[in-house]
Amino acid sequence: MRREWLQALQRWQHCEEVQLYGALQEVLAVAVCDWAGLPLDPGERGVRTRELVSLFDDAARGVGGHLRARLRRHQAEAWARRHIEAVRVGARRPAEDTVLARIARHPDADGRELPPAIAAVELLNVLRPVVAVSVYLVFVAHALQGRADWAERLRDGAQGKEALHFVQEVRRHYPFFPLLAGRTRAGARWRGAAIPAGMRVILDVYGTNHSRRDWVEPDVFLPERWGAFALQTPSAFVPQGGGPAATGHRCPGEDVALQLMLLSLDMFLLRMRYEPGERRPPLDFSRLPALPEGGLVIRRPGAMLRSPQVLRV
Ligand code: HEM
Repeated sequence: MRREWLQALQRWQHCEEVQLYGALQEVLAVAVCDWAGLPLDPGERGVRTRELVSLFDDAARGVGGHLRARLRRHQAEAWARRHIEAVRVGARRPAEDTVLARIARHPDADGRELPPAIAAVELLNVLRPVVAVSVYLVFVAHALQGRADWAERLRDGAQGKEALHFVQEVRRHYPFFPLLAGRTRAGARWRGAAIPAGMRVILDVYGTNHSRRDWVEPDVFLPERWGAFALQTPSAFVPQGGGPAATGHRCPGEDVALQLMLLSLDMFLLRMRYEPGERRPPLDFSRLPALPEGGLVIRRPGAMLRSPQVLRV
């Protein structure tokens, strides 16, 4: 991602303004496709980015958005499937440790290769959410704009763990998925309430991350809360699902998302210079995923001239 971001910066520096969301989507799409073993030709970068974005950004946007999402999902699956099949017939030879090679060769429970349609969806299950991290990266930039003191502190060589506190607070404070829905497979009890089998249940993700029961001043963006804070109840912090990832459906990509967010701090603070847009837009909660109203714009971006210190945890 760093390499693609630095290359994109060469193009952005000719622009007066850059809309971060779209710009970072392409950076992430190009980076993850390259890493996964399906490098994109310059001519197909736009179309593949649009398809991957549509898988998480169009579906909840009215009938038109929904139909567009279905069409693009179909196109994305066909594209992924072509790659799986090309690996299997030897027409493509990605490195053995790439996601593409692993999924193409992964056996199902009976030891046979996964059906191409299933393998294609599994491949997209890695590519799509990495591009979705663009939402969090916009939130990181939005949060930096709101907390100039923290931007300064991190830029001036604050400890890596403070960078981690900042991005954890972004994941707690900002909305992404408002809720998760499921159906109980067996009868269950939760805090004294009986839940019969087959019942629709909803986990209020945003509400849990903002509950007054577990968080002091939950609606305020306070990275400093993570300094003294030991997460007593892991179920209080569920931006990417609850329970253990190894045995349940909690997101297995939490660490990937975290690392990309940390890297974005390094890019925003130490490797590029830019001016924030004229105003810091409020969040549009009626959108899914929620984003700053009208998008987040940066102005006069360019590469940082001094040699940066690398922000790492
Ligand atoms: C943009 C940041 C991300 C958010 C907000 C997010 C959120 C989520 C949520 C809420 C779930 C469902 C949890 C549940 O049902 O209990 C999930 C599942 C999943 N996520 Fe993420 N995710 C993100 C990034 C990633 C990344 C970077 C990857 C992989 C590279 C990834 C891969 C997956 C997979 C494969 C599942 C399905 C797990 C299963 O059903 O067993 N996610 N994610």
